[in-house]
Amino acid sequence: MSNKSFYITTPIYYPSAKLHIGHAYCTTIADSVARYHRLAGDDVFFLTGSDEHGQKIQEKAEAQGIKPIEYVDGIVAEFQKLWKMLNISNDDFLRTSQKRHERVVQEIFRRVYDKGDIYKGAYKGLYCTPCESFWTELQLDENGCCPDCGRPVKEVAEEAYFFKMSRYADRILKHIEDNPDFIQPVSRRNEMINFIKQGLDDLCISRTSFDWGIPVPIDEKHVIYVWFDALTNYLTPIGFLDDEEKFKKFWPADVHLVGKEIVRFHSIIWPCILMALDLPLPKQIYGHGWLVVDGSKMSKSLGNVVDPVELINKYGADAIRYFLLREINLGQDGNFSELALVQRINADLANDLGNLLHRTLNMVKKFQQGEVLAAQGRSEIDENLIADAMAAVKTFDEGMGDMKISSAIKGVWAFISRANKYIDETAPWALAKDPAKQQELANVMYNLVESLRIISVMIEPFMPTTAEKIWQQLNMPKAFADVRLDDIKAWGGTTAGMHIGEAQQLFPRIELEKDEAPDKKAGEKVKTGKQAKGEPGNIDSDEITIEDFARVKLQVVEILAAEPVPKADKLLKLKVNTGAEEREIVSGIAKHYECSELIGKRVILVMNLKPARIRGVVSHGMILAASKGDALEVVSVDMPVGSVVR
Ligand code: ME8
Ligand code: MG
Repeated sequence: MSNKSFYITTPIYYPSAKLHIGHAYCTTIADSVARYHRLAGDDVFFLTGSDEHGQKIQEKAEAQGIKPIEYVDGIVAEFQKLWKMLNISNDDFLRTSQKRHERVVQEIFRRVYDKGDIYKGAYKGLYCTPCESFWTELQLDENGCCPDCGRPVKEVAEEAYFFKMSRYADRILKHIEDNPDFIQPVSRRNEMINFIKQGLDDLCISRTSFDWGIPVPIDEKHVIYVWFDALTNYLTPIGFLDDEEKFKKFWPADVHLVGKEIVRFHSIIWPCILMALDLPLPKQIYGHGWLVVDGSKMSKSLGNVVDPVELINKYGADAIRYFLLREINLGQDGNFSELALVQRINADLANDLGNLLHRTLNMVKKFQQGEVLAAQGRSEIDENLIADAMAAVKTFDEGMGDMKISSAIKGVWAFISRANKYIDETAPWALAKDPAKQQELANVMYNLVESLRIISVMIEPFMPTTAEKIWQQLNMPKAFADVRLDDIKAWGGTTAGMHIGEAQQLFPRIELEKDEAPDKKAGEKVKTGKQAKGEPGNIDSDEITIEDFARVKLQVVEILAAEPVPKADKLLKLKVNTGAEEREIVSGIAKHYECSELIGKRVILVMNLKPARIRGVVSHGMILAASKGDALEVVSVDMPVGSVVR
């Protein structure tokens, strides 16, 4: 059986500065898709690289008094280090300064020239050096600046070679219209159609005002203009000139994944070059959205960047990968926020996933001495879980195959929550106590281990290190590297009689800084995956950590006023002074105190309790009271207002 091939690329990034989280976002998406296809058994080629030539880089190097190649060598080494830290599984890394690429670009120039599609002319126009883009007067923004980055453009006039792109305008328009999947998402497709309908100009493809580039093979005064040099990178590593078989296998590319701002180059200019070469067009150009910070695009030229290296050092690669893939819908812009990242880690990773693994391993160890026993017979709840597992695999498989990454990842997490719920539904700790229910218990344990086996494979594209850690903690006999999607397409791959491994924490909870109030989303999430009453061992439901306790902010406040809440005979409305402000709270102590007795009392208030509306009054906190039987007394202390209780 010959494997399907799958070729995916990222843009080759400019080494004009260090990469930021936006670049990491794009590369992580491509990596997860490549990993998925490898799991599916496809022959994958995943390419990324660096776009090193051009005036901008030459000017940067000159400013530092070094040669352009020295300048880019340093930065490109950082790119590669970053991809390693992020666990990017690229099969090659193309640098446009490499000899192998120079050969390809010059050969392409010659072929297109010989065909009559390149001519010499004079270029007069407006150029944005930071973006390496030519603009017409009409395209400039309202300030007469570059429409992409808002910086001034400069007028340039020089002899140049041109590619007769106008010749291909009708063909590319027809191709886009006939192939709805060619440009995704559809909003980008419509933009491109409108763009072409305004008419395509011929494209300037050489420059003489700088020399950091690949020489035009027939005219050494000229270097090839960056986009002609950059786009052709996609042909170099797959054997365009030196390995026909490989080239046939991987070309045309399945997906060029790019940011939305360069969809135009990929879906119009690049196809026109390929048409001139009589090569097939890539199957799809996918334009992903931007990561924004406070509404504006994160960009090297704007200087508002988030450093992925810092984030990886702080939270780990898998948490960053998960966040980027889960939080932002591919194709749309998304806001980057560290707070949202921490909330995802706590809710989805530490809580949902971490607890499922921990609870399962813990119970198999405690109830069955670590052995996974054979399952026999299925209850309705079991059947339900199994059906949900198989549905999750299907959602995952279809989603990833169709670049619907958030739908795939949501499907996996829905199943993780489902498996946590299965524990609560089956209450294994109760089964364990009943000698007549040992087979039922064995079934539940088997089903949980099997669920986790399936989950670990599905999360591999998103979080490769965590996936393998789970596999190892389960102690599955097969080498993780050999696991394929087929291994989880049917229920029952776990071999009875195996022994589970050592449980280790996957993601510790991250405590939020004082001023970072957790939002509703995080608060709602904490429900799933928590231990149930009666669940055994070191995850006893009653046990909390010191960090858990420290999240409750307790403080001494003074009661300034008290009055009954109408039509609620147990409730009093209190006004308290916290030292920083006055707050209104509702307290169920009306049966135990006269209002006047309370005035001036210094009591302990839970400061960070979520406000709640009680009988029409919003209560901002709760005061502590001791109670036994019918007796109740508020906890009062003789300490100054504002004292912290811990
Ligand atoms: O354009 N959010 O390189 P480049 C999301 N060399 N993604 C972002 C982003 C953001 N804020 N900022 C950048 C070039 N990106 C050319 C490409 S390809 C033949 C030549 C990602 O360094 C996004 O994928 O400016 C975008 O298209 C790419 O980085 C641009 O990188
Ligand atoms: Mg850019």
